[in-house]
Amino acid sequence: MISWRAIAVATLLATTPALLAGEIPLDARRSGYSFMGPDTRAMQDDDTSNPGMLFVLDGEALWMKKEGSGDKACADCHGDAKSSMKGVAARYPAFDKALRRPVTLDQRINLCRANHQDAPPLPFESHDILALSAFVAHQSRGAAITAGDDPQLKPFVEQGRHLFMQREGQLNLACTNCHDDNFDKRLAGSPITQGQPTGYPLYRLEWQTLGSLERRLRSCMTGVRAQAYDYGAPELVALELYLMSRAHGMPMETPAVRP
Ligand code: HEC
Ligand code: HEC
Repeated sequence: MISWRAIAVATLLATTPALLAGEIPLDARRSGYSFMGPDTRAMQDDDTSNPGMLFVLDGEALWMKKEGSGDKACADCHGDAKSSMKGVAARYPAFDKALRRPVTLDQRINLCRANHQDAPPLPFESHDILALSAFVAHQSRGAAITAGDDPQLKPFVEQGRHLFMQREGQLNLACTNCHDDNFDKRLAGSPITQGQPTGYPLYRLEWQTLGSLERRLRSCMTGVRAQAYDYGAPELVALELYLMSRAHGMPMETPAVRP
């Protein structure tokens, strides 16, 4: 069966003169924020109306809470997050020496639970992992993204770049076909943005909740009728890392609000 979305995509690509596939020049990069209507922008800008801030507050409470058989809170080791976590999320995914691969901020938090709190991992997209990562990432609001700078990450950034350029799914489209070649066009009424990862985890009105960058990428994959990678899969982490390196220098917005 052909869905409305497939028709919309076919129309979009048929009516768009194929631009040269290519990366966006550094000074032409724009956050998804700049594509949104005034109401959604206002919601993101005002902390008292931004629903993501409720998760940040929950995350702050969890930061202070003793957990696991170690009976330690995040704060017992990391102190005041305002200083200890400042700028940290802007360089995630980061290389983990023991695992010899990049880990996302969510995975890092779960590594702390396992290695330093003796507590079980929080499930992907659960309220508590989103709240903790929103709280940690919020300490980087305004900080310039530097993820991918570590030379050890080079092969993983390359892997992510390759995945971004690769056509996939029944619609045979690559991420780059929409987010590099056709941003500023509309798809079934909504604007296509550059797919910049500056605001995660973020509150999406369609989800009615906070969600991770992985959740967003999985829904883009489902959108082109491709099999989405599992949460935490190395491919998804590599894509996330490439997106962050592609956004190098752009300011973090967590928690952003998107339609
Ligand atoms: C017993 C001490 C301890 C506790 C408790 C702890 N951590 Fe950590 N954390 C560490 C250490 C040590 C590191 C450095 C990496 C490593 O050795 O695991 C770290 C690293 C991190 C990092 C990465 C920092 C960076 O610069 O890359 C984040 C983020 C983090 N912890 C968050 C948390 C959160 C959130 C909690 C609570 C859920 C927590 N940690 C609990 C000791 C702790
Ligand atoms: C058919 C077009 C299309 C394809 C192909 C596509 N996306 Fe998207 N993507 C969208 C639309 C539409 C949205 C929602 C509006 C927006 O933020 O662009 C979106 C949103 C996003 C966002 C959220 C941006 C923000 O501001 O929060 C990211 C990141 C993203 N896509 C990455 C990807 C990646 C990575 C791939 C490849 C695995 C991909 N997309 C494939 C159309 C597409």
